Amino acid sequence: MKIAVVGTGYVGLVSGTCFAESGNEVTCVDIDEKKVEKLRAGKITIYEPGLEKIFIRNLSEGRLTFTTSLEEGIKEARLVFLALPTPPDEDGSADLKYVLSVAGDLGRLLNEGDYKVIVDKSTVPVGTGELVAAAILNVLKERGISDPESLFDVVSNPEFLREGVAVDDFMKPDRVVIGTASEKARNIMNRLYAPFVRQGNPIIFMDLRSAELTKYAANSLLATKISFMNEIAQMCEKLGADVDMVRKGVGADDRIGKRFLFPGIGYGGSCFPKDVQALVKSASLVDYDFKILNAVMEVNDRQKSHLTPKVLAYFGNDLKGKKIALWGLAFKPNTDDIREAPALVLIDELTKHGAEITAYDPEAMENVKAQIGDKIKYAENQYDAIEGADALVIATEWNEFRMVDCEKLRALLKSPVIFDGRNLFDLNYMRDCNFYYVSIGRETLVPVNK
Ligand SMILES: NC(=O)c1ccc[n+]([C@@H]2O[C@H](COP(=O)([O-])OP(=O)(O)OC[C@H]3O[C@@H](n4cnc5c(N)ncnc54)[C@H](O)[C@@H]3O)[C@@H](O)[C@H]2O)c1
Repeated sequence: MKIAVVGTGYVGLVSGTCFAESGNEVTCVDIDEKKVEKLRAGKITIYEPGLEKIFIRNLSEGRLTFTTSLEEGIKEARLVFLALPTPPDEDGSADLKYVLSVAGDLGRLLNEGDYKVIVDKSTVPVGTGELVAAAILNVLKERGISDPESLFDVVSNPEFLREGVAVDDFMKPDRVVIGTASEKARNIMNRLYAPFVRQGNPIIFMDLRSAELTKYAANSLLATKISFMNEIAQMCEKLGADVDMVRKGVGADDRIGKRFLFPGIGYGGSCFPKDVQALVKSASLVDYDFKILNAVMEVNDRQKSHLTPKVLAYFGNDLKGKKIALWGLAFKPNTDDIREAPALVLIDELTKHGAEITAYDPEAMENVKAQIGDKIKYAENQYDAIEGADALVIATEWNEFRMVDCEKLRALLKSPVIFDGRNLFDLNYMRDCNFYYVSIGRETLVPVNK
């Protein structure tokens, strides 16, 4: 099938590349000329494991092309995916200006006798599909097109991929959610996704509004699980329990499940914070006070600042001249995405108190440099970062940080002090290392004279 993907960010580039990988002819459209130029030249614009290889293959085999022209991109496409940003507006609701402006453009470009399915992949509030259809119809009517409704259908197909494992998630989704009332669009979508669900995972068809809400419900439920465990971790610290044990005991229950129970210094990224906020806003617009999600946001904000007072307390409330090594900047491992990353909050708070930070992240340093420049120093590798540091703070659970060598750490750090915001290390190992070790929801280890 011929497909256009409008918006070539995380979702657009992964979707476009994966659709091409299953044999479709895909044109990705983006208004960012530099991005399109780079992609055309075979340079990948995001870090996502496994993506580069299939991107290069499909580019060189001609199934994947890039353009800045919407007209050119959609010319022969049967399906037009919208993978456009929906950032939070000033009041927290999703800003639909990108989606609706492209919808207006589509109204100018659709032609009689050339039916297209307009698929909304962006995360959008309930009712957006109807707004997109209305925006397209208005322009078609202005153009005097007869029977404009027959030229297109709008479908909601929310994306559930996780950054860091996006290719796997896209190629083998747990489920595909498709919201539409049109039989014609449904059949096209069913055919498109058939190669991705060969192992039997479901394509779940529903109405447009339910599909739009499903995405917000899924992200908000996951964010709730994280914030809930972060509260349990706080209780563990106060009551002398160990959150690792509680997590295992709770997660063994099938009804709860083992995933998303790891406490830390809060969730970040481009999705959870904005989607939870947008659902709360949507609720308020229909006079509903979504109490749980208000608490989820409050807990997450508090959790992002959880380590700072502990660092301050250790250093007698004075970080002037203290050198802090920071491992991890991305909002989670295996991505270079730093949107709403807890590390940025830590950097802000610690530098405000006079700390000098040297950070290392395997993928996200360029993005942080572009955002905050030389407010902090950047190290070549994780061990360079800790050389001469008064303490190590960990903000992202990259795998390569896990197998730490205590003796090496001790030799490089000025003093053996770790504030671990992701519970990377086994408590017994840290006890053997005889470090001052603070983690989340677990006992604080204090070195003993041996
Ligand atoms: N990032 C994720 O993990 C993820 C997962 C699921 C769903 N989503 C949702 O998908 C949507 C896109 O997210 P993203 O992370 O890919 O965003 P992104 O910011 O990475 O990419 C959006 C792209 O759209 C382009 N764009 C803006 N206006 C345009 C226009 N008029 N024409 C063509 N291109 C235009 C931008 O230049 C950018 O490249 C959002 O609604 C998001 O909530 C994101």
